[in-house]
Amino acid sequence: MINEINFDNIDITSGIIPETEPERQYYYMALCRKMVKDESERLKRPLTFFIATFGCQMNARDSEKLQGILEEIGYVEGKDESADFVIYNTCTVRENANTRVYGRLGHLNSLKKKNPSMKIALCGCMMQEKEVVDKIKSSYRFVDIIFGTHNIYKLAELIFARYNSESMIVNVLKDTELVVEDLPSIRKYPFKSGVNIMFGCNNFCSYCIVPYVRGRERSREPKDIIREIEKLVADGVVEVMLLGQNVNSYGKNLENPISFAELLKEVEKIEGLKRIRFMTPHPKDLSDDVIEVMKHSKKICAHVHLPLQSGSSRLLKIMNRHYTKERYLELAEKIKREIPDVSLTTDIIVGFPGETEEDFEDTLDVVRKAGFDSAYTFIYSKRTGTPAATMDGQVPEDVVKERFNRLLKVVQEGSEKYCKRHEGRVMEVLCEDVNEQDDTMLTGRLSNNILVHFKGDRSLIGKIVNVKLNESKGFYYIGEIAE
Ligand code: 5AD
Ligand code: SF4
Repeated sequence: MINEINFDNIDITSGIIPETEPERQYYYMALCRKMVKDESERLKRPLTFFIATFGCQMNARDSEKLQGILEEIGYVEGKDESADFVIYNTCTVRENANTRVYGRLGHLNSLKKKNPSMKIALCGCMMQEKEVVDKIKSSYRFVDIIFGTHNIYKLAELIFARYNSESMIVNVLKDTELVVEDLPSIRKYPFKSGVNIMFGCNNFCSYCIVPYVRGRERSREPKDIIREIEKLVADGVVEVMLLGQNVNSYGKNLENPISFAELLKEVEKIEGLKRIRFMTPHPKDLSDDVIEVMKHSKKICAHVHLPLQSGSSRLLKIMNRHYTKERYLELAEKIKREIPDVSLTTDIIVGFPGETEEDFEDTLDVVRKAGFDSAYTFIYSKRTGTPAATMDGQVPEDVVKERFNRLLKVVQEGSEKYCKRHEGRVMEVLCEDVNEQDDTMLTGRLSNNILVHFKGDRSLIGKIVNVKLNESKGFYYIGEIAE
């Protein structure tokens, strides 16, 4: 993304460190480049890196930025945790995400004993929690760098600091106003990319830790977003996913406010861009104008991921979601009515404190009525520091499990029914990968996000082709390329 910068021309001998961003980071990247080069000459091999990403699309995008910086300073991608520089980009939305990180850290320690020059960095949402950082400082002393969600752009500066210090570097900011533009990033797929349009969340749903670890809402300037997408398109990208915790409140806090619907219209104008996705809208403020823009758009994909969380109006109130069961159903119905072939997906939490059988029945009722193509279902996980963590009526584990299984069944019945509705049609598919099981086949995605597997040559990857959807398999199709 920042090919125009020649890091070898940056003067690192003067000792004058720029104070503004991103220039300061360019300076540290140039310093690290030299360090990595020297070390690699000493070892007579390239230095490798490996990033393990936990959690959501935001983290996936952050990891691409981390990778961009590491490659810029001379590391090459390794295949696993035996690499010279390992980063865990962590998630803390549910407790099991934390448990997995602690589990894998034990393994990293044994690898580091074999390769003493190995460096380990931990970042992401888990690191925004003080208890986590304290625990790592006391029980995982082999970790080299800890940083948070607000300063991933500083990776080079932190690496430099670690190489010039005897001890662990910890740099976690509570919050930030800053949005640093123009840093390198790499894309996992050459033809599609996530694009952050905003950071943080102001909603404070009572079960959710995100507002505490990702900070207050900050929107990027529309011109920066458009410029980034234009550059991506010039570099071969045909699909972008606009990312934010609550994209409907995009632009409200900018000096010159702009709505999400207006941003969508601007993105639509970018020539060469073929598909636009976004994640995640909030049912409380998914506005009519967004639905209207989607309805008339040629590029915005026919997919709305609309987290329900619970179908019970009583629980939704306690969850601080600001909508009722009826309002959600009306909205789902409107989306389906207005946007042809749209697919609706959702997130649902089972076992929120105080959830009664009646509340749960309401959730099942919404699932039956709203017609979800698929749903991510989660068992409620208590997050210390959130209001729900101290609420009475934590639901017993066996009850939660039993409800969870019942929910899964209803979700699956719905998926089968809704996925089937396109069977026999010819639809546009973006070819994404060689099929995992059969390398004569490709895997692609419909505009509505449903996967399709079909015979095809890998040269089609990144292209949009017409595919006949021969057979629905519940949540994916088997198809064939249509003339
Ligand atoms: N327990 C279970 N699921 C949660 N989510 C957020 N917080 C929790 C929690 N404490 C789920 C919500 C959200 C998704 C990203 O994660 O469904 O939409
Ligand atoms: Fe969490 Fe609610 Fe914000 Fe989503 S909208 S990140 S569930 S607080």
